[in-house]
Amino acid sequence: MSRQTAYQALYRVTVAYLPFVVAAMIIAVAFHLKKQSDAERPLKGFPLVGLEEEGLSPKEAWMKHGHRVMVKGLTEHKGAFQVMTGTGPKIMLPNRFTEEFRKNDMANLIQTQTRDNFAGWPGFDGMTFLSKHERVVVDAVRINLTQSMGAVTDSLVDETRLATPELFGQDKEWQTIPIKSRIGSFVSRLSSRVFLGPKLCRDSEWLEIAQSHTVNLFQASMAMREGPSLRRLLSFWFNPLYKRLRSQAHAARRILKPLIETRKAEVRKALAAGEKPEKVADLIGWMVAQAQASDIDYAAGQLGMSVVGIHTTTEALAEALVDLCQHPSLFQPLREEIVRELKDQGWTRTTLHRMRLMDSFLKESQRLHPASAASVNRYLYADVKLSDGTVLPKGSRIWIAGRFDDPELYPEPDKLDAYRFLNLRSEAGKSNTWQHTSMTPEHLGFGYGDHGCPGRFFASNELKIALSFLLLNYDWKLPDVPDNQTFIHFGVGNLLSPLCRLSYRRRSAEIEL
Ligand code: HEM
Ligand SMILES: *[C@@H]1O[C@H](CO)[C@@H](O)[C@H](O)[C@H]1NC(C)=O
Ligand SMILES: *[C@@H]1O[C@H](CO)[C@@H](O)[C@H](O)[C@H]1NC(C)=O
Repeated sequence: MSRQTAYQALYRVTVAYLPFVVAAMIIAVAFHLKKQSDAERPLKGFPLVGLEEEGLSPKEAWMKHGHRVMVKGLTEHKGAFQVMTGTGPKIMLPNRFTEEFRKNDMANLIQTQTRDNFAGWPGFDGMTFLSKHERVVVDAVRINLTQSMGAVTDSLVDETRLATPELFGQDKEWQTIPIKSRIGSFVSRLSSRVFLGPKLCRDSEWLEIAQSHTVNLFQASMAMREGPSLRRLLSFWFNPLYKRLRSQAHAARRILKPLIETRKAEVRKALAAGEKPEKVADLIGWMVAQAQASDIDYAAGQLGMSVVGIHTTTEALAEALVDLCQHPSLFQPLREEIVRELKDQGWTRTTLHRMRLMDSFLKESQRLHPASAASVNRYLYADVKLSDGTVLPKGSRIWIAGRFDDPELYPEPDKLDAYRFLNLRSEAGKSNTWQHTSMTPEHLGFGYGDHGCPGRFFASNELKIALSFLLLNYDWKLPDVPDNQTFIHFGVGNLLSPLCRLSYRRRSAEIEL
């Protein structure tokens, strides 16, 4: 075939098929745009609450002033109402419905979050794992991790003892640092000791991933939601945000492979011999055992842990330190309690349990800066009928308004009172209701019911150990030039600003930890 005839043939084929190609593209784009606009269309039958009187669209109102929108909805409506979040409508329920979601096996946070965060897309592998293997994650945390809390406490103390001087140094002069990223490195290291064992928790390449993956993932999923959807689709392979996510997932698989292969071989050997898998002391081992060593992407499971386990604990510890620097009179009583309990018993689970002022302070810090002022996110797999007759439609997403700043429950709710929960606990019969790890409708910091946070006992212990080392070994204060912004609010979410700085210097500890 001559070159000319080849061109002619190509031309004819193109002309013949072009209309079909164009039509297919138009349909694809229209379909995609329709899906997008469906996602943002309000649900039928629920009042939509926004701030139209201020000239804001419901979504803008939510993103900028979510807390006010929530309060307005609760004041104006007796029952359920809806708000327009960045990922479409969600039904908000008043707090009195909390109990009705205690035993709700139709829906949970993982399925809500992973739908919002692109489970199934390359790079979003942590989300994909959580959504596909929810039981593996939840059972490994809820059953095995919690049952091993004695050994886990020993590992945490051991790692904190090593990591504290490495990450915070010995300098007796004041120095000022952005607190969140330093605490992020600290928590990634301590948590990774229990998630992956002593070797990988000191692997700098892994630590970088464990610490940054969550923020990368949220940035990428925010970018995916914004902007025209066609451009978003086209940019997926080229946008550096997505590229970074994909390369982190790739690196995670490479770094964790040897450990995963070892754990799989151990579990398979035990199963073949008809025995129970040998006891291990790391979360990855428990996940492999829970999944019967099947060939699933355990490395992605660890990326998921960075989201549910490491990022949350980092926020809580950094916020607690900021709270203390804003209320420096608390340093002394907290230090006294740490010294008293440790002198008595050394590091045990009971010691941590007996740090009652610290427990109360952590719960109070969480009350003032809950990760979200509305909790108990649930995606409904089927219609759910509430006690007031309201039917929540299948496929909708709900959450429950917290009472974190309800003055009837918490007098002077804007004030930090470290003794608040300690005092409430001393009321007759209430000693278990107001612990840091207690889940109640009054304090939804760890959610509620069967799908409440299974990692809360671990998180609380880790926070107490980390705070003990940081308080006895260092003095802390706000920087001499104060920061403009400490907390960032979006929707009903709270984050510590990554720019927030604290000053610290080495002090001599009353006892050796
Ligand atoms: C201070 C740190 C933490 C906070 C504030 C926190 C908070 C929460 C909240 C509010 C939920 C949703 C509960 C609900 O919707 O009812 C949740 C779920 C979850 N958390 Fe945590 N969490 C923390 C640490 C951890 C840690 C360290 C782990 C793992 C070791 C973990 C694992 C999970 C898992 C797997 C779920 C999903 C449970 C389910 O859907 O059934 N969390 N967490
Ligand atoms: C995890 O917990 C389950 C349920 O208690 C138990 O049967 C299993 O042996 C534990 N796995 C490991 C590896 O400890
Ligand atoms: C505080 O805000 C002002 C104005 O937005 C800005 O110019 C300044 O650099 C900020 N200061 C700090 C410490 O971030």
